[in-house]
Amino acid sequence: MVMARKSESRKTDTLSEEIQPDEVRLEASLRPRSFDEYVGQGPVVEKLKVYVQAARSRGDSLDHCLFSGPPGLGKTSLAHIIANELGVGIHVTSGPALERKGDLAGLLTNLNARDVLFIDEIHRLNAAVEEYLYPAMEDFRLDITIDTGPAARAMKIDLPPFTLIGATTRTGLLTSPLRDRFQIQERLEYYDPKALELILHRSARILGIPLDKDAAREVATRSRGTPRITNRLLRRLRDFAEVEGNGKITLELAKKSLDRLGVDASGLDAMDRKILLTIIEKFGGGPVGVETIAASVGEQRDTIEDVYEPFLMQEGFLQRTPRGRMATHRAYQYFKKQPPPPTPQGMLF
Ligand SMILES: Nc1ncnc2c1ncn2[C@@H]1O[C@H](COP(=O)(O)OP(=O)(O)O)[C@@H](O)[C@H]1O
Ligand SMILES: [Mg+2]
Repeated sequence: MVMARKSESRKTDTLSEEIQPDEVRLEASLRPRSFDEYVGQGPVVEKLKVYVQAARSRGDSLDHCLFSGPPGLGKTSLAHIIANELGVGIHVTSGPALERKGDLAGLLTNLNARDVLFIDEIHRLNAAVEEYLYPAMEDFRLDITIDTGPAARAMKIDLPPFTLIGATTRTGLLTSPLRDRFQIQERLEYYDPKALELILHRSARILGIPLDKDAAREVATRSRGTPRITNRLLRRLRDFAEVEGNGKITLELAKKSLDRLGVDASGLDAMDRKILLTIIEKFGGGPVGVETIAASVGEQRDTIEDVYEPFLMQEGFLQRTPRGRMATHRAYQYFKKQPPPPTPQGMLF
């Protein structure tokens, strides 16, 4: 069961971090298979290498891992790599797919010793299934009830030791009892352009796409720090290169095509710009609540919080305050607008 969720309102958006249906196969072909192929995320990967090697040499299962971060940064890839490097099997499911306890029990009782169980979108597990997971994580044990009514009796089933790898966009969405049961918790960060450049050259090589060095640099800086977007832009540029050029992605072709795709030089997409402009033009620069922003731009609150805000904050366009979101000076500069004078309620930085 591989689940691909996507946001309703961004169905074929080039810059959406969410996986799109036609991309499932492509992603499989471009997915890094080992730590060595996994570009960037240095500190996280260095630690994981040690934990994996230690578990391997002890013959133990690896401790449970929780990976968080915006979509498209490599959480699923990392889960597959870990299973690969441990030399064990991986079973893939997702929070929404595990509707009943029985769904989880079926998966758990089919694991071989030290296997990886990967639960994507683990914050979307329902409460009953989640509670059922606790003893499985802690003691490799399932507590099941057989029969109902007066004949009901509790039974314990021993499970092989296994590694649960959970992925989520934000750890804050997990209940604390679940979060606390992950001994290893790592947050993936947006990639710097250098890392994205390496990913681009690798993908271009695998797909057989001629790509100039300076073109790769341009695409890398305009990919919202996200490998999934990098690979998607590469495919779109290949189309432009084949139809309107000589098949090669040159700097000039890349710039022209990226402009047409609505990706600007700062890497902001249409929704990023819409969010910032809404805050500036409709709400005097903020502070304004995320619910209100979501309603004004016609996007789901979760998508704004998981996908847009982290990038806009990292790039210094948006500030989160206890009273709401505010556009920064940088955002005003970007739109060539005059920021309002500081007021007692809202100090801009
Ligand atoms: N560190 C990386 N190195 C190379 N490619 C990567 C890396 N991280 C992600 N990718 C590429 O981006 C795609 C999306 O990554 P994925 O692991 O599915 O992200 P997530 O699960 O966080 O949404 C992968 O198929 C792969 O091609
Ligand atoms: Mg994923």
